[in-house]
Amino acid sequence: METKILPVTDESVALAKEILLGGGLVAFPTETVYGLGADGTNGDAVKKIYEAKGRPADNPLIAHVHPDFDIGKLVYVENDYALRLKEAFMPGPLTMVFYSRGVVCKEAVCGGDTLAVRIPRHAGAQKLLRAAKIPVVAPSANVSKHVSPVTAQHVFDDLAGKIPLILDGGKSDGGIESTVLDVTEKVPRILRAGLITREMIAAVAGDCEIAAHLPGDKIRSPGVKYRRYMPRCKTARFCAEDTARAAALYDRAAEEGKKPVILCESGAKARFAGREIIDLGGSGEEIASNLFAALREGERRADLIIAIEPAGRGGVYDGVMNRLCKAAEKYEEGGFSH
Ligand code: TXA
Ligand code: MG
Repeated sequence: METKILPVTDESVALAKEILLGGGLVAFPTETVYGLGADGTNGDAVKKIYEAKGRPADNPLIAHVHPDFDIGKLVYVENDYALRLKEAFMPGPLTMVFYSRGVVCKEAVCGGDTLAVRIPRHAGAQKLLRAAKIPVVAPSANVSKHVSPVTAQHVFDDLAGKIPLILDGGKSDGGIESTVLDVTEKVPRILRAGLITREMIAAVAGDCEIAAHLPGDKIRSPGVKYRRYMPRCKTARFCAEDTARAAALYDRAAEEGKKPVILCESGAKARFAGREIIDLGGSGEEIASNLFAALREGERRADLIIAIEPAGRGGVYDGVMNRLCKAAEKYEEGGFSH
């Protein structure tokens, strides 16, 4: 199958709509990462997502809708705080998990009784969702376990030949995926950290918990149990204070003829002078925005990525650390451990 990359225009969106309504897959931009969309009401179409990505069959998908879409048609909105959160953060990088009305097919929710809903802010995503008028279920548009894509080229690199169309809406500037929030209980609970932080949610909802992801949890987010976001080369992670050991690993690898590269925040660069560096930026938001693109650039340029954890904690750093810890194994004396 030929895979087209087209800018988001009236014509390309009309083609995308035709493909979606015909049961096919379309990759599209959002403000977090690129999504791989299918008609959420069509079980056979949804199965194609799992095939194209090699995604585990027990990991449910997020339904994406236009801001004008009445989400009450898809889910039961039971808690008032969920309405306030919708008002405050949607459209935007927040996904809320409600009990489903069953309009979105069982294939997309893996037979479960809940549905994750997101209203993207990206103009390209909204143009597509406005035209399609259906809930578009979409995971990140990467091969399962690989780094999430933040450009049309990243999607092409992973899925060329497997999907007919990628809508190109430029680089996703959020950079990490949406916050996934369970809103079925009296207190909202973060299932996956992201750009909408615990502090931001608590300020609107009064309180906010963070899921421990225990086996008995009622609402689970199966995605969190898998290794994910992995570059195709060895990737070692060091904590912010451990720069001497990281530099030593770099130098040893270089001596052995390997091509290492350091990934670190701007403030840590000076400690790796004279070595190949990919700069993640200064603030938590900048690091979030650059992280996935940097990991993909690292695997292209090098055969060993040495990732230095940023020093900051809380806020957006929760989401950044969650991604980095899955992408890169902690490097202990003598080798990798997780
Ligand atoms: O920013 C994003 O959320 C991107 C863009 C494309 O919208 N999408 C994305 O999808 O990251 P995906 O499939 O890569 O991650 C979805 C996460 C997974 O961890 C999954 O387990 C969780 O959301 N999830 C989806 N439906 C759920 C549900 N009903 N209950 C609990 N967790 C759910
Ligand atoms: Mg993903």
